Amino acid sequence: MHILAISGSLRPNSTNKLLIQAVADRLPETVTLTLFDGLDNLPHFSPERDTDPPLPPVEHLRQSIAQADAVLICTPEYAFGIPGVLKNALDWTVSTVLMNHKPVGVMSASPGYAGGERAMASLLPTLQALDTRIPEGGALVVSSVKSKLALDGTITDVPTDVALRTLVAGLVGLMNTSHESY
Ligand SMILES: Cc1cc2nc3c(=O)[nH]c(=O)nc-3n(C[C@H](O)[C@H](O)[C@H](O)COP(=O)(O)O)c2cc1C
Repeated sequence: MHILAISGSLRPNSTNKLLIQAVADRLPETVTLTLFDGLDNLPHFSPERDTDPPLPPVEHLRQSIAQADAVLICTPEYAFGIPGVLKNALDWTVSTVLMNHKPVGVMSASPGYAGGERAMASLLPTLQALDTRIPEGGALVVSSVKSKLALDGTITDVPTDVALRTLVAGLVGLMNTSHESY
């Protein structure tokens, strides 16, 4: 089984990317995870650009989602919402059924005390509009992230470690259920 991870942060040293790696480190051996590499190349969404066949960067996004059994989104909070690049990518999936019923794990990490909560509050309705399936424990806000993560990505906070394992268990469980129902 395969998970496609999407980081809402484009930064090479992103804490959200470190959290994605922390999830990858906690996956069972039967599950692989790759980080989507094309967020920065997507054109700005506009309905008349949603052509058939799709523009190559859009096709790359859609193929990557189609080939994944689940999607993991991990995003910073920008101005109390999600970064435009992430919303743009999600908008490119709206005219497809690719995200419908797709198991999705979602995390938002911020150095702020209440950081991540508003990004999450903004992202969840979008994922609902896309008809995704988020497992119990599958939406994780990591506030004050710099006190929970070492520079090499090691999780130094026990409750965060437990929450990550809960997210992984929920997502893998949902992936297994999806496979059984086909
Ligand atoms: C333009 C901009 C807006 C931001 N807005 C918020 C915000 O509203 N709330 C918050 O908690 N952090 C905010 N931050 C801080 C980010 O959450 C922080 O930089 C975070 O570490 C970025 O994630 P990354 O390390 O994965 O790139 C903002 C950062 C930038 C650059």
